[in-house]
This record gives sequence, structure tokens and C-alpha cells, in this order.
Amino acid sequence: MKPHTSILGINAWHGDASAALVIDGQLVAAAEEERFRRRKHYAGFPSEAVRWCLRSAGLSPAQLDHVAINRDPSARRTQKLMWLLGNRPSLGLVADRLRNGNKVRSLRVELAAGLGISPGELGATFHNVEHHQAHLASAFLVSPFERAAAVSVDGFGDFSSCMWGLGEGNRIETMGRVGFPHSLGLLYLALTQYLGFPNYGDEYKVMGLCAYGRPRYLADLRRLVSLGRKGSFELAPEYFLHTQGGVPMAWDNGEPKVERAFSPALVELLGEPREKGAELDQRHRDLAASAQALYEECFFHLLEAVAKRTGETRLTLAGGCAMNSLANGRIEAATPFREVWVQPAAGDAGGALGAAMHVWCETLERPRTFTMEHASFGPKASDAEIDALLEFRRPELGASGCRVSRANDEHELCERVAAAIAEGQVVGWFQGAMEWGPRALGNRSILADPRRTDMQDVLNLKIKRRESFRPFAPSVLAERQAEWFESAAPVPFMGRVFPVRAEKQSIVPAVVHADGTGRLQTVTESANPRYYRLIRAFEARTGVPMLVNTSFNENEPIVCQPEEALDCFLRTKMDMLVLEDRVFERVPATVGRSHLAMDPDAVPAALPKPKTEESRRAERRP
Ligand SMILES: [Fe+2]
Repeated sequence: MKPHTSILGINAWHGDASAALVIDGQLVAAAEEERFRRRKHYAGFPSEAVRWCLRSAGLSPAQLDHVAINRDPSARRTQKLMWLLGNRPSLGLVADRLRNGNKVRSLRVELAAGLGISPGELGATFHNVEHHQAHLASAFLVSPFERAAAVSVDGFGDFSSCMWGLGEGNRIETMGRVGFPHSLGLLYLALTQYLGFPNYGDEYKVMGLCAYGRPRYLADLRRLVSLGRKGSFELAPEYFLHTQGGVPMAWDNGEPKVERAFSPALVELLGEPREKGAELDQRHRDLAASAQALYEECFFHLLEAVAKRTGETRLTLAGGCAMNSLANGRIEAATPFREVWVQPAAGDAGGALGAAMHVWCETLERPRTFTMEHASFGPKASDAEIDALLEFRRPELGASGCRVSRANDEHELCERVAAAIAEGQVVGWFQGAMEWGPRALGNRSILADPRRTDMQDVLNLKIKRRESFRPFAPSVLAERQAEWFESAAPVPFMGRVFPVRAEKQSIVPAVVHADGTGRLQTVTESANPRYYRLIRAFEARTGVPMLVNTSFNENEPIVCQPEEALDCFLRTKMDMLVLEDRVFERVPATVGRSHLAMDPDAVPAALPKPKTEESRRAERRP
């Protein structure tokens, strides 16, 4: 008998292409392709993420036992055919979907091409896992619950937009679904586009905006969707274009593109849509609040029925709509569920993990032994790599007026960084393995002082340059959460929004949104020891057990490698950069910038040759 069973999970030709590697039921590596390709939400084939997963585990492609993708083109074939016959969408769209489905069917060939090998070298068994079964598996099968309701809600995948069931042990019994064309994800997408946010993944902007409005248009918006029995819902087809010939989408080798999904009937109902970049007025804010309220009505209607059907008070959530942290924060108040677990990569990236876990538990009938307690499953940088980078960039660092030093130990590092943050500095914090999922959770984060009223503006001015209505999130020590937030429910992956206690709001204005809430991350010592100790050091200085935590990037995917972190530091006005134990500080202009002020201990005398992108690619090739 082989000593190990390896399963590669893949999400491809869909938003947030990704790969995840499961060995003997344990998740050992997982990452989104966008981090390697440096293109947001990359939607082609995740060849770089696959290479990295294999390399990190020391596996060759030939050693893979199973490969699973979160798509099954044969699922709901009859329903697809009936829809085609009844609605006659454009031939171009049908051909496009067929091409996409054919790639999924020929995964062996596509994977071999992506890895630069011949298909014959792959001895693995290939599996198609239906999209929403993979979503359900990505949450329940790695959750801390032995038994729980499992719910997946998204735009569409394999001709469904929603699925739910009961998870127990290593099985998930499917109990219901909502099929095309009805979709809460599509509903939210259409309203997001109407509000002038056309890019893939812009829904979170509507979530940020709605705190400034009131749901005055909820009665109008209720015309868009009707609620039915047993948690079901139906879209009114006249307001959408996917029901009238289809919505063109592009999922190939780049940022996904989704064309307009709302129809002229919606414009008749609500008035002129907002153009991208146009000024936001109160009507837009109220519409955003109304869209969120409508989504929550439908979502809680569904959850209510699932709770009733399963009899469970525990819930695991996945699918793109599980990224709606605002709705997630209200689940206990609005439904019978009492414990909620949200997958960190709740969107389609998580389907790679779900497909692999589905094969391990349900296809191979092996026991469930893995619980996702942290999200540190991506690439990390060795000391040698960082030292090589430092040496290679030494002239540039000197010209930029940087001082580089090395902390003697973690205690000294945390003390220095906590002091800098307490003084108002903005710190790029790079340590450990990159996070799985779209949230920076203290490994690839930009950190700042939550006590400063001007910190949101400072962050936007210095680095992020994003819309002023979007809030910044707090990372709080788990044991202090209940003192500062109106819920003690753990939120390890920043998937839920809770109100900040009224008496605390004025103390941490930088992380309190306009509606008094915060999209928090609870930090434990076991999940992220260094980050936990940094926040502890900040608390010891200030009495405040939290930091502002925003993703380490500047209008790009979150940084993956140390050179990307350094580039981001150099081209923005960040005050300090931490790469593991090295601390980069800007020397005040009066000191002069003609030379690099470098601590001699920061770089060892003998250095390996610095890595270039080309040498990295060569290494990634298994
Ligand atoms: Fe999905």
C-alpha cells in the first residue's frame, strides 16, 4: 500500500483560479493564482499555483494520486438543455460556455500543458466535483463541527446558485438547491453594477457604502425577487439580462469580465444608473443600503428554512455570497443558528480545497481529520531569500534613504514595531506563510494605530488610495474581543461584521465604520503567534488590544514574495517595512539619501545569488 495519498484540488477558468494540495486528508498548501501572476482575480488555469503546491510538498506531477476540479459539466444536463430550448440564447454565448466546459472535461490535457509535461506523465485519477458540492465541502469538511448545516450561495456554478444540506462526520447530505436563473449572487451583482461598480468583486464596495444610507428603496427592490416555500427564491426575469439571452463573461487568462447584468426595466424602476467614477449622492447610498437589506431578507429566509429542515444550530458557509461579512454578522440575530463558521476562501478559490476534500472524504470514504485553524497555507520566504533580496537591492535602498536593521529576537521586533505603530507610523508587515483567501490576516498586512481619527485618511493618502467610504478592519486579541465588540463569536478569518461597543467607539475611531461596526479578525496565539505577540506589545503600550489591519498591496493582488512587499514599500509612503526579522525604516530627508544606512548585522557577509523572476519560475517547474 502507498504510504501517502495526495489530492490536488483546482479552481480554473472561473474567477480566482487556485490550487490546493491535500495529503492524507491534511491541507498542506493552497494559494490563488493571482498572487503569482499579479493580476487580480486571475481566471485562467492556475499553473503557477499548482507548481508551487507541488514544489512546497516535494511532489512531482507523476506522484499525484488524484486531481479534482470544482466543476462538473455533466451536472444538471437536462435542466441546461431545457433552458437552451426554451430561451434560445445567442450562439456566441453558447459556444463560449461549451468551450469553457470542454476545458474542464479535458483537465488532464490542460494540467499537463500548464505544467509543461505530456498528459501520459500524469498517473492520477481525475474527478469532477459539482461546483456547489465543492463549496459545501470547502466549509463543512474543514470546520471545527462534527455535525452542522452546510450552505453555499453564489452567482452561478454548474447551473445552480445555491445548495444546502446536513454535514456529519465525513459526509454532506444534499437537501436542496436553487437552479439557474435564480441567484442571490446575480441579484447583488446587478445592483452593484447599477451603482457604478463594474469590476469583478466590486460587491464589497456596496457593502461599505450601505452604512451611509437607509433602505428607502427596499419596497421597490422587492419587485426583483420573490420568496417561496422552503427557503426558495425567484428572480423576476424582466429586470435581468442573463434571463434574456445571457450576460457575456470572460474567464480566460486575466481579470474576469462580466458584462451588464441588469435590464432596461431596472432603469425604468430605479432611474438612471450611476456611471463608474461619477459622484456618489444620497440616492446611491440609500440604494446600496436597500440592496443589502434585500439580500439579507432573502439570505435569512433561506437560512431559516435550512435551520428548520436540518434542526441544527451550527452553520458552515461558503460560496461568493459568504463573503458578505455584514450579513454574516447578523445571522444569530436573524435566524436560529447560534454558531457560524465561514471559510476564509469562501469564494470560488475555495472550490479547489472543497474539491480535494470532497474526494478524500466522500469519494475515497476516508475519515475527516483536518480542521482549518489558521489560513497560513501559502508561500513563505526564507532568511536566505530575504538576505539575497536585500543585497541585490542595496543601491536602490540607499538611494531611497532606507535604514535596514535586524531584530535580535521576536520580542525586540514586536516592541519596536508596536512602538512605531503607537507613534503613528504605517507598517508593512510580512511574516510566515501567505494567507489563503482574500483577507490579509497578519502575514501580509499593513498595520496602523486604530486610535487615530485621521488614520483612515493617512492610509488612503500614503498607500491604498481607495474610496473614502470603505472601512478599515481591526485585528483584536481573542480574549479581549467581548470587551470591545458586541459579540464574542470567534472570527478568525475576518468573515463577519459586529458592532463595536458604544463606549469603545471613540477610542478606536480608525476601525469603526459609519454604522458603528467593525469587520474584525480575532487573533489567537496558537493560530498566529508572532502577530498575536505584536498586538499584545501594542496593548501593553496603549491599553488597546487591536491594530488596524489592511491588506499588503496597492491596487494589486496582495503581495506574495518579499520583493513585492519591498516594491510596495518603496513606491508608497509606508513608514516602516518588516520582512520577517528585518526592519526597513525611512531615514529623514535631513540625514541625506546618498548612501544606504545599513546595520552591518542585517546582511550576512556571504550571500547567495539573488532570485529573479526567471529563476523562480525555473524552480517552480517540477
Ligand atoms: Fe461559486
